Amino acid sequence: MKTYETLLAEVTEYAKSHEKKERYEHSVRTAATCAELCRRFGEDEQKGFFAGIAHDICKECSDMELVSLAVKDGLPVSQIERTKVSLLHGRAAATLLQEQFGVTDSEIIEAVQHHTFGKAGMCNLAKLLYVADKIEPGREHITEKYLKKTEGMSLNELVISVLSENISYLQENGKKIAPATQELLDSLVG
Ligand SMILES: [Fe+2]
Ligand SMILES: [Fe+2]
Repeated sequence: MKTYETLLAEVTEYAKSHEKKERYEHSVRTAATCAELCRRFGEDEQKGFFAGIAHDICKECSDMELVSLAVKDGLPVSQIERTKVSLLHGRAAATLLQEQFGVTDSEIIEAVQHHTFGKAGMCNLAKLLYVADKIEPGREHITEKYLKKTEGMSLNELVISVLSENISYLQENGKKIAPATQELLDSLVG
């Protein structure tokens, strides 16, 4: 069994060598944001940091690699994923983490697997990675004022706020809302 430090070092090295520089930097900021959110909401900070570093490791994979890795989770390929295969990068990364690095933590795997669309009923770590990916300080719309506003929110309020913004953004840009994203929002609001 590898230690956390060994595993983190291996995945960090993989992310650094397989992601474009800007993407790797986004991953580091997502990791730091996710760890901070975990601290705020009583989740495991190390797991949060690791999930952030690992979440986009398959973003530069070819379509063929993405599909062959992603379908190993046994879930169907949705209409949206079929149209834009790169949207499978979270599911693909979850497989790669297990097969190549021996990651067994089910919360980390779920968080990475569902970070693109979210999923109703997903664990708190997965919710926090979803949020961290969207509000890390490198994101264009993320201002000091915005972050200040999120400070007083409960975990669910924060997820609802980020999901709602994401859905408005997609609607404004004429993009489809994944059913899984809408289901996650409905499950938290209802
Ligand atoms: Fe991603
Ligand atoms: Fe990301």
